[in-house]
Amino acid sequence: MSATALLSYALTVPDIEPGRRFYSIFGLIPAKCGNALALRCEGRDQDQVLLIEGAKKRLNHLRFGADDPGIAAIRSRMRERDVVETGATAPEFEGGLWLADPDGNPVNIRNQSAQPWRSAPEFRINQPGHYRRFERGCGPRYQVRPTRLGHVLLFTPRLDEMVAFYRDIVGLRLSDTVPGIIAFMHLPCGGDHHVLALLQDAQAGFHHASFEVESPDEMGLGAQAVLEAGYGNGWGMGRHVIGSNLFHYLRDPWMSLAEYFCDIDQIPGDGSWRAQAHEPRDALYRWGPPVPDDFARNFEVS
Ligand SMILES: [Fe+2]
Repeated sequence: MSATALLSYALTVPDIEPGRRFYSIFGLIPAKCGNALALRCEGRDQDQVLLIEGAKKRLNHLRFGADDPGIAAIRSRMRERDVVETGATAPEFEGGLWLADPDGNPVNIRNQSAQPWRSAPEFRINQPGHYRRFERGCGPRYQVRPTRLGHVLLFTPRLDEMVAFYRDIVGLRLSDTVPGIIAFMHLPCGGDHHVLALLQDAQAGFHHASFEVESPDEMGLGAQAVLEAGYGNGWGMGRHVIGSNLFHYLRDPWMSLAEYFCDIDQIPGDGSWRAQAHEPRDALYRWGPPVPDDFARNFEVS
């Protein structure tokens, strides 16, 4: 028994307002949460991003959901491995069980299940042998609204220890790896190929969070709006090998990244998925624009 959802992530940032502007253009809906700003996906009754002011941008915490037996099981595994209970990083975030991962990132596990998200109309495409759309396929421009938070990627200087912590304490499972470089982990109940990815680096840090949109068109429309508002391009559009999702990354106000994704591999909840060790050449993509030099740079390194 273990975590059943990645609920949200929280960032400490020097000023919330640039974050409100960026994530609003990205398509999230701002909401108040004490002195923090919560951001939600349209049609989903769940905070997805929390921003709170502090000296320097960094990950404030990751929040996972679990049921009561799951939380009890996590507590018991913490006791077995001498992992201590800590406290909330701010009064706004109190509740549930708090601990820290080997990099010192606060982790909050609370009795909350993943809230339902919007479904999308089927994406119909005319292909050779499958011509079935007899109306205009190119619609108007509109504000893209992601359906949900999918995953978070963190830099870590201790990849193996971090994988062991999220496997043995939180209860995630390994999806795939490029040994010594990156590891992808999923929820034991199944679902997305990864809710957490860990990338080896000299220092800990927050690399990106990723949000699902309805279609490749929405990835293009969303990225276009963010770029036209003056934000930096991260990388995209392309297709990853590991997880298979289409991706487009945009630079947030603090030089970390927000990603639009769609078409990610789904892992069954029956334990039948077998993690694969991939070659380093498959760590990034199958196709897309050349990888920018600063794509995997940890801008939190001082
Ligand atoms: Fe991603």
